[in-house]
Amino acid sequence: MARLRLGVLVSGRGSNLQALIDAAADPAFPAEVALVLSNRADAHGLERATAAGVATAVVDHRAFPGDKRAFEGAMDDALRAANVDLVCLAGFMRLLSPWFVERWHDRLLNIHPSLLPSFKGLDTHARALAAGVRVHGCTVHLVRPAMDEGPILAQAAVPVLPGDDERSLAERVLAAEHRLYPLAVRLLAEGRARVLGERVEIDGDGPDGSTALIVPALR
Ligand code: GRF
Repeated sequence: MARLRLGVLVSGRGSNLQALIDAAADPAFPAEVALVLSNRADAHGLERATAAGVATAVVDHRAFPGDKRAFEGAMDDALRAANVDLVCLAGFMRLLSPWFVERWHDRLLNIHPSLLPSFKGLDTHARALAAGVRVHGCTVHLVRPAMDEGPILAQAAVPVLPGDDERSLAERVLAAEHRLYPLAVRLLAEGRARVLGERVEIDGDGPDGSTALIVPALR
């Protein structure tokens, strides 16, 4: 069966992109990274793509002052030219307009470093620590026009441990992100995740558990 073609949008480090590239190195993985697209020419994610032999494109938002539609139109063109099936946001730091989001409706994923709907937006780890939650984590969801909203596809939980600071907690969540994004892509690519309006159902899930949930073992 043909592999799903991913377009990964990055603005920086690209460690989640790397997790997808690494997963796709296994020929049995049902998706491949067809294009890495960045709004910044200096994004480290572009180097990761090149090192892996993956095509890259840069669409610099600053080249379209005051014209978000043209910026997003150029990104859309690049994604379509590369025959992308599914767009994965991976640390892409521009808010996408309803036009772009609708164009890729149910074919646009984001990874967010919290258990949504808690802690939308930035500084999620600091806010989780300030709130004193015992469980934190990350979410892969389908993108809707409002920031960090949309049907939840998969989540990974991590404990918040005594003595954690923002850095230690971010590291633990990031390691979970790197497992979660490939899992979420796999579920969609294999047709095991079905979007029913604003909820996602995973085939085979039942009262005993869900394959779209990663939890650490209880100690
Ligand atoms: C990740 O924490 C992701 O959840 C958030 O931005 C960060 C990107 O990191 N959306 P990287 O560029 O994938 O290393």
